[in-house]
Amino acid sequence: MRVAVLGGETDFEGWRKAARAFRQADVTPERAAFRVGSGGDGLFDESPPPPLAEASPFSVPKAFVELAQDVILHRSADRFDLLYRLLWRLGAEPDLMRVVTDIDVGDALERAKNVSRASHKMKAFVRFRKVEDAEGERWVAWFEPAHRVLEKTAPFFARRFTTMNWSVLTPDGSAAWDGEILTFGPPATRDMAPSEDEIEDFWKTYYASTFNPARLKTKAMQAEMPRRYWKDLPEAALIPELVARSAVRTEAMVAAPAPEPNVRLAKTLSRINRDRAFDEGFVPSTLQELDQAVQACRRCPLWRDATQGVCGEGPKKARLMIVGEQPGDQEDLAGHPFVGPAGGVLDKALEEAGIDRDDVFVTNAVKHFKHEPRGKRRLHKTPTAGEVSACRWWLDAERRLVKPKVIVTLGGTAALGVLGRKVAVTKERGQGIGLPDGAQALLTVHPSYLLRIPEAAAKAAERDRFVVDLKRAKALL
Ligand code: URA
Repeated sequence: MRVAVLGGETDFEGWRKAARAFRQADVTPERAAFRVGSGGDGLFDESPPPPLAEASPFSVPKAFVELAQDVILHRSADRFDLLYRLLWRLGAEPDLMRVVTDIDVGDALERAKNVSRASHKMKAFVRFRKVEDAEGERWVAWFEPAHRVLEKTAPFFARRFTTMNWSVLTPDGSAAWDGEILTFGPPATRDMAPSEDEIEDFWKTYYASTFNPARLKTKAMQAEMPRRYWKDLPEAALIPELVARSAVRTEAMVAAPAPEPNVRLAKTLSRINRDRAFDEGFVPSTLQELDQAVQACRRCPLWRDATQGVCGEGPKKARLMIVGEQPGDQEDLAGHPFVGPAGGVLDKALEEAGIDRDDVFVTNAVKHFKHEPRGKRRLHKTPTAGEVSACRWWLDAERRLVKPKVIVTLGGTAALGVLGRKVAVTKERGQGIGLPDGAQALLTVHPSYLLRIPEAAAKAAERDRFVVDLKRAKALL
């Protein structure tokens, strides 16, 4: 048995160096072992195995390297061995990474999915608390990620909270941002982070205002926001009460929760499919394939600042499609369309119009969240006509696959995405407009517009008009 000693649990470079040496020396996976130890740097317990005289340099697919970088962050002890087994097999099976049914490939994809999910949870559930000391104001968060995703995820916080001086402490290590440089330090303990402060109330108010009882699925919610994270979330104290209240109103829905689509696995697969997605002739043949490919979209620059592409959701053959503008802050994090405040307005209006949201395919004209940082918030920015046009390729693909009879567009951007021309929504609102594929478009306002109307009576009147438009769409079906 040959043993390589790695410099740390997430020492990808060390693993890569050792695995390369193993392979060049023809050390089979059964005879290769990896352990984490001090002073290790992909070095060996004894001397490194000598490369075979005839060993030729080898390369591995980029998809493998990207997958391995995620898998190594998994907490399982045998992850180094799994990766070396895959590396070894790639020698004789160069297309192995495309065989998603292979047991090792499937195992690695599953672990990468878990890692990716842990990173997502970290983005969604880290809560900073203010600390003031001699050095000034700092924001500190304690978090226990399911996998070792601190280094992978910290750049997200640096982008999102650029102007804040913050630290994230975890049992695996710590990350700190001083407004310019991101540094990583030793593991921490929970007592090193403050647990309560005045911004608790801010989170509680924020959560209560964005919590949407009509869409509550307790199982799905616990999957998204597992109990293990609750203890560090100020707003979690509200959950039992909010759930109890909504249970009364939406008992039937809670009794039959729908499974959430596996967006994270799709993202991992999309790396593998990336090249394919940008073949000239690539046309997604299923919504799942489309979803995967959107994660690799580079048709315009909006992907850079977004957490993920957010595709449409709903029945594969929905007769009614609703098109919004683009995912907002919450949709970007959750990976689902219309789950934030505008989604709340839409849900209620659909209910009043007698339309079940579960029968509707809900999507957006633009699949990535366009925004600009303002302090610690991300402010929505309207996509340009060029960005809408670039993203039209995806919307058209969704339309081809779903084949809706009626498409309701919410606001000007959605109308531009569907009709391909600039329109004055107020002039063409509420009537069926024939589309070349035989469907009918019905234009109406965006729910965010309703949220922005300050005066109560005007707001109520506009909401009623919105419901009337949805009823008209229903009548066109
Ligand atoms: N606004 C939109 O247009 N779409 C969403 O998904 C959310 C908010």
